[in-house]
Amino acid sequence: MILRAAGPSDLALLRHWDAQPHVIASDPDDDWNWEVELHRDPPWREQLVAEIDTRPVGFIQIIDPALEDSHYWGDVPTGLRAIDIWIGEAGDLGQGHGTRMMQLALARCFADAGVEAVLVDPLASNVRAHRFYRRLGFEFVERRRFNDDDCHVYRLERGRWEA
Ligand SMILES: CC(C)(COP(=O)(O)OP(=O)(O)OC[C@H]1O[C@@H](n2cnc3c(N)ncnc32)[C@H](O)[C@@H]1OP(=O)(O)O)[C@@H](O)C(=O)NCCC(=O)NCCS
Repeated sequence: MILRAAGPSDLALLRHWDAQPHVIASDPDDDWNWEVELHRDPPWREQLVAEIDTRPVGFIQIIDPALEDSHYWGDVPTGLRAIDIWIGEAGDLGQGHGTRMMQLALARCFADAGVEAVLVDPLASNVRAHRFYRRLGFEFVERRRFNDDDCHVYRLERGRWEA
């Protein structure tokens, strides 16, 4: 598996994935505004497509929440990253691809010596994702409302990841 930068040529793929029921269930109200965002490359964000032997299987975004321009995470210190992830096709769920994507993404995050921890914010209802993150070493921080979404914040400390 590799993670490669997403770009304008991924528009149809990402829209198709957005329409899959398991993706909608994990992120019901969000509009990722791909037409605009796939043409942008701000320094605080990486948008990546995971490919296995050139076949795209999933999407992952890494942001610096202190610099992200909508301030989605509110007032957070520097030294953090936040991740969003999904597998595109339902037939590709539950086969270890998500775990591999997170391992690659976490290695990318922690390769920056200034990064102390990584955050994720699954919906409170997304209990399978909670289990997925806990297996990767993430620890529950708090229940928190982001816009209209009731979420659980999980955090993976550098020390725990290195161990
Ligand atoms: C969460 C997700 C990225 C994990 O990737 P994956 O390739 O399915 O996961 P793996 O095969 O590496 O590990 C399987 C685990 O993923 C988790 N998982 C979460 N949602 C799942 C789903 N809809 N189907 C299957 N597994 C799911 C479970 O913990 C599962 O383990 P379990 O069988 O013990 O429940 C993926 O399931 C997905 O895209 N889900 C929908 C979108 C989503 O919830 N994204 C996270 C939002 S914060």
